[in-house]
Amino acid sequence: MSKWSGVAEAYRTSFATLCAGTVERLLADTIGDDHLDVGCGTGDLALAATRLGRQVVAVDADPEMVAMTTAAMRGVVIEAALPHLPFDDASFDVVTANFVVNHVPDPRAAVRELARVARPGGRVAVTCWPARTQPWASLVGDAFTAAGVVPQTGQRLSPELDFERSVTGLRGLAEDAGLKVVTATELRWEWEIGVDALWSGITGGVATVGQTFLAQTGEVQDKAETELRQIMGEVARDGMLGLPSAAAYVVAVA
Ligand SMILES: C[S@@+](CC[C@H](N)C(=O)[O-])C[C@H]1O[C@@H](n2cnc3c(N)ncnc32)[C@H](O)[C@@H]1O
Repeated sequence: MSKWSGVAEAYRTSFATLCAGTVERLLADTIGDDHLDVGCGTGDLALAATRLGRQVVAVDADPEMVAMTTAAMRGVVIEAALPHLPFDDASFDVVTANFVVNHVPDPRAAVRELARVARPGGRVAVTCWPARTQPWASLVGDAFTAAGVVPQTGQRLSPELDFERSVTGLRGLAEDAGLKVVTATELRWEWEIGVDALWSGITGGVATVGQTFLAQTGEVQDKAETELRQIMGEVARDGMLGLPSAAAYVVAVA
C-alpha cells in the first residue's frame, strides 16, 4: 500500500498548506492554456491554475487525492501514477509536479515522462524538498527523540534510482530528460500553521513523519505529543507557528 493511502483529509489540513507555499511562483513562471498538474494531492495548484483560466488536467496516484481534487475544481482529474501518464506525447503547454518527484519510485523516469507530455516550447516546473532538515522537521525530530520514537528504516531509494535532493540534483533530472533548464533556484517562504493542524497531519499518518508516528506504541505516541506540544508551544504565538521553509525548484523548456 502507498504511504499516501488514506491520508488525503489529514494532508489537506496540514502539509498541503506547506506545499502551497510554492504555488504562486510555479504559476507565475508557466504560461499556457493546457496545464497538467501531476501528483495534484488535494488540488491547491490545480484549482489556482483553473482560476487563471487554464484548461487543467490533474493526476494523482491515490484515489482519495483524486476525489478531493475533483471536488475542489472544475476540470479533468485522473488516477494515474508516474512514470506512466495516460497522455499522448506533446499534449500540454504546462506540466507541473509540486513536491512529487521526491515521492516516486523512479525520479529520473518520472521527469522523462513529464517532459514527454509537454509540447515543444512548453514549460515543465518541478519542486522537491532539499536534503537538509527543514525547521518544522527539526522541531518534530527533537520531540520524537525526546519521546524515544523509533525511526523507520528502509525508506530510501536505491542509489542507482535516487537523486541528489538539491537544486543541482533536480536540475540534473530535468537535463537528463532532455529539457532546457531556464530557472534553477531555491524558493523560500514561511509556513504558517497551527500546532493542532500540524499535529493532526502527524497523527493522520501523512508522509514519513506520520507513518513513523503511527508505527510507535501508544505510550511512545503519547510522549511524542507531550514533547511536541511543549517544544512547539515555546515558539508558537497564539497556537500558530511561522516556520521558514525551502524548496529546490526548476523550470525547464521542452
Ligand atoms: C507531497 S504530496 C504533493 C501534493 C500536491 N502536489 C501539493 O503540492 O500539495 C505528493 C503527492 O504525490 C502523489 N504521488 C505519489 N506517488 C505518485 C506517483 N508515482 N504518480 C503520481 N502521483 C504520485 C501522492 O499521492 C500525493 O498526492
